[in-house]
Amino acid sequence: MITPRFNFNPKKTITMVMLAFVGFGFAQERTSILLDKGWKFTREDNANFQKKEYNDKKWQTVTVPHDWAIYGPFGIDNDKQHMAITQDGQKEALEHAGRTGGLPFVGTGWYRKNITIPEGSAGKKIILQFDGAMSHAVVYINGEKVGNWPYGYNTFYFDISKFVKEGDNQLAVRLENLPESSRWYPGAGLYRNVHLIISEKTRIAHWGTAISTEKLEKDFAKIKINTEVEAPKDAKDLSLLTEIFDDKGNKVAEERAEITSYDELKKAQELIIPQPKAWSVESPTLYRVVSKLYQNGELKDISTSQFGIRTIEIIPDKGFFLNGVKTEFKGVCLHHDLGPLGAAVNKAAIRRQIKIMKEMGVNAIRTSHNMPAPELVEACDEMGMMLMAETFDEWKIPKMKNGYNLLFDEWAEKDAVNLIRHYRNNPSIVMWCIGNEVPEQGSPSGAKVARYLQDIFQREDPTRPVTQGMDNPDGVLKNGMAAMMEVAGFNYRPFRYREEYEKLPQSIILGTETASTLSSRGVYKFPVVRKSMAKYPDHQASSYDVEHCSWSDLPEDNFIQHDDLPYAIGEFVWTGFDYLGEPTPYYTDWPSHSSLFGIVDLAGIPKDRYYLYRSHWNTKENTLHILPHWTWKGREGEVTPIFVYTNYPSAEVFINGKSQGIRKKDLSVDLVKTENKISYENFDRQKRYRLMWMDTRYEPGTVKVVAYDENGKAVEEKTIHTAGAPAKLQLEVDRNVLDHSGKDLAFVKVSVVDKDGNLCPFDEREISIKVNGKGSFKAMANGNPTSLESFQTPKMKAFSGALVAIVEGGETPGKITFEASAKGVKSAATEITVK
Ligand code: GAL
Repeated sequence: MITPRFNFNPKKTITMVMLAFVGFGFAQERTSILLDKGWKFTREDNANFQKKEYNDKKWQTVTVPHDWAIYGPFGIDNDKQHMAITQDGQKEALEHAGRTGGLPFVGTGWYRKNITIPEGSAGKKIILQFDGAMSHAVVYINGEKVGNWPYGYNTFYFDISKFVKEGDNQLAVRLENLPESSRWYPGAGLYRNVHLIISEKTRIAHWGTAISTEKLEKDFAKIKINTEVEAPKDAKDLSLLTEIFDDKGNKVAEERAEITSYDELKKAQELIIPQPKAWSVESPTLYRVVSKLYQNGELKDISTSQFGIRTIEIIPDKGFFLNGVKTEFKGVCLHHDLGPLGAAVNKAAIRRQIKIMKEMGVNAIRTSHNMPAPELVEACDEMGMMLMAETFDEWKIPKMKNGYNLLFDEWAEKDAVNLIRHYRNNPSIVMWCIGNEVPEQGSPSGAKVARYLQDIFQREDPTRPVTQGMDNPDGVLKNGMAAMMEVAGFNYRPFRYREEYEKLPQSIILGTETASTLSSRGVYKFPVVRKSMAKYPDHQASSYDVEHCSWSDLPEDNFIQHDDLPYAIGEFVWTGFDYLGEPTPYYTDWPSHSSLFGIVDLAGIPKDRYYLYRSHWNTKENTLHILPHWTWKGREGEVTPIFVYTNYPSAEVFINGKSQGIRKKDLSVDLVKTENKISYENFDRQKRYRLMWMDTRYEPGTVKVVAYDENGKAVEEKTIHTAGAPAKLQLEVDRNVLDHSGKDLAFVKVSVVDKDGNLCPFDEREISIKVNGKGSFKAMANGNPTSLESFQTPKMKAFSGALVAIVEGGETPGKITFEASAKGVKSAATEITVK
């Protein structure tokens, strides 16, 4: 047996995944290698960079995933866009400063890496896969062009067998981001993982296994498996053994199939699994299909595909059914960036986001407006989160001068096919989305393009419904686009659902994008009135959750539709987390580089709105949340409304022990009664979902809320206090045991508190972080969209009294010490373990 020689140290890294590896030149099972370390990187551009002999020693050494732009600095001129956003109702061109995050992502970047192909690889199939490269990737091996893939969000791969030789090979990748190509921060570089996959030439095709649940009963499930085999034309005596293993590793089904001729390389099999455990949001059980390919009894290839047993169905007028259970989408739209980590994919950061969302009661994520990272899809599979996987923000008619419109004709089908084949076995994906608010909605031939795309999805994957986010109801009702979509998805048009329903043959409506409520964590504006496109000198929005855009609304304006209309199958709120770019309504008001739409801020700290959604969506746990904070020096005696977000039907508020009265959710509020402007301004819809004391006046001390159940019995209470002088820092760690992958992250929330632990909500002092031991400081963020501080410098100002610092665990087990300090207050320290 020949020992493989790779240019990495298996002792120091767990990046090599060997699927039943036996050895080269002997047994024939595929090997997958993660190309993460030892990349060279430059922002310069030169045709010599692709040459094998080019000396890149002076370039920066980086680890992939890598986002070259997240290191900043922020600047008003980075991708400044002089244009009118017609979608947002702008009639004249404006200077949009922070629309794409104010970060330096535009331009070229080159990556180079030496890859060692093991001895005995001659005659093997060698695949190079990029999970995503931003953007316009051109890939070279040993100076020769292998191929290109322009769309930055998609996974693509090349067969590089004929470009490589055993031993050293030079891989080079050129990337280029165009100005005015995006409506948000896209990230830059090799921001997702890169893999090398080596197998025999006679093998299971890449993404060649398609698994679907044909029938799900209590006693059995019928699973259909289509396997595509690749083999030389004259290959004989092939056979396929398909095995299914359950979540405990027990084999639960198997079937062997002979492949008697070259024409039979696509094999369809149906296997029965007894006593199946269905995949669901509550119980995300996963199974594995292991496909083994033999020739003359010799094992040639093994390919493993994770899947879940689950059925999905959309029944007109009734709704969406997961495993036969009516399921309403309590969804959020998410951009791909991970706040201070930029677009560089990280498993721990993604899982933290999903955890925060699940706790709010979210059951679905829309990957707006592009293809998800594999790490997100896998996490959703494992953690129980449904996904709507999206493709494009633009088809042929431009939204952005240099956007996808330039690629559509040549690439749309290829991009769609890669998305589908990559993820068709992942149970979390329950719907495909072919576009977002495309201008074709208003064009007479728009339905033809929609049909072209929907047909591709139906051809490649007949098991999932297809939708599209439409915001031009008049256009799509007129040109037939809305009627031909499998699921009619509307953005920000809940007030038209009833009219659309009458006209649409599907008799189903999905809120593909809703709310776009604006708020900044811990910032409250007075008086408390409903406002559209409100702007303030501090470039923030009120956390009373009463502000929105001219096209959007408040959470309850959507709750009421989805609660009262049986054919409305749920919603995807814009957005779960704040993201880089799109600081609407501060289009031109620099500094402002990130959104205010998030239910959770850019640092991952929930805003008040989080608890409003939680009170409505999380039906397993109780929610009792008071806002605003109660530290209002200078507002003594002034009207300072108090809101309570709770699942309980009523509650009573006390200020310094004095009752301010009981408020009860008004369940008589319905769609018809609240149709007009007055009811909007009076917060009538809100009265059904949130408890509001509009006339309370501020006096320092305590606010107590007592929640009552249906019988008027006091069941829970909560108290908040006026904070005293800032005294110390307080730490809260999301996970204090990390693995030793060198990539695992702990998120530490640092708050400035008084001597009793009450948050000092206006504190903005600079906090410094020190990390020692078996880990290092990675990044930090405070959730303030106007902060121009670097995410990677270990000091930053608190925003509304808090921020989050991120620690990266190292590659050796041991302890990490984390210390936060700031002038004038007691510092705080904690320990994190690397296992
Ligand atoms: C929608 C759009 C989103 C985002 C949002 C902000 O129209 O689809 O990408 O721009 O508006 O409200």
